[in-house]
Amino acid sequence: MNLPISTESIYNKQANSWSRSEKILLSDFTARPKVIEALGDISGARILDMGCGEGYVSRMLLAQGASSIFGVDASSEMIAQAKETALAGNLKTAEYTVGNAVIYSNFPTEKFDHAIAVFLFNYLTIEEMTAVMSRVKNLLKKDGAFVFTVPHPCLPFMREETPPFYFQHGDMTYLDGIDQTFEGKIWRRDGKPVSVRCVHKNFSHYFEALALAGFNSLPTVKELSVTQEHLDLDPDFFTPLAGYPLHVLFKVQVND
Ligand SMILES: C[S@@+](CC[C@H](N)C(=O)[O-])C[C@H]1O[C@@H](n2cnc3c(N)ncnc32)[C@H](O)[C@@H]1O
Repeated sequence: MNLPISTESIYNKQANSWSRSEKILLSDFTARPKVIEALGDISGARILDMGCGEGYVSRMLLAQGASSIFGVDASSEMIAQAKETALAGNLKTAEYTVGNAVIYSNFPTEKFDHAIAVFLFNYLTIEEMTAVMSRVKNLLKKDGAFVFTVPHPCLPFMREETPPFYFQHGDMTYLDGIDQTFEGKIWRRDGKPVSVRCVHKNFSHYFEALALAGFNSLPTVKELSVTQEHLDLDPDFFTPLAGYPLHVLFKVQVND
């Protein structure tokens, strides 16, 4: 029987392609800056980064004034890269650890000011995502924000399997593909594709999971796409995606 390759293996194998100090992946342009923007003023904030990868976003958060980062990722190679880069940059308040975000429990005892999960939930089932959201809710201080991004749930059904970003939904539909894994690829601007996957969910599942996890305020939701600025910067790269909803950003606040 051909077992699907594990997420850890995917990321252990391609950690070098993710390692970066400036925008290179499509989503470095179309999504990650919006995560920083959504967090607002993070001066002095202690931030939890679930599925932190090789630390690109957390380094941006430190550069924007966050006081410390605690990053968890399932891939030992991504974490090795995160640690190496933090050491080289003398980022003493960046702590990275290998762990499955669904069950990891060895967090610092002091609660966090904010939390992020940038393209983590597309690797988890609805049940797993709900477990991570519950943990995040318990780890956040009152008024803390949780910002996360996911691939837009409609994208796999709107775009053909062509660069620079796609997921393969096979014969599954938006409604019957729930918790099914769609393999995909996202491109870097230098022409290199990297493998990604999306455990499919409908829009409603994110709202239901947040409520089950104990977040009792409405999230703000942004559907992210290519902008005119992207098209002006590199029309060849971005034009095939113009007009498509690429990612969704959720921001929810702890109010109790
Ligand atoms: C698309 S990458 C994003 C990495 C980083 N957040 C960023 O924005 O650069 C997804 C990351 O989620 C991690 N991941 C997937 N499933 C995970 C799990 N169950 N627990 C922790 N990390 C996981 C992968 O190892 C990978 O580093």
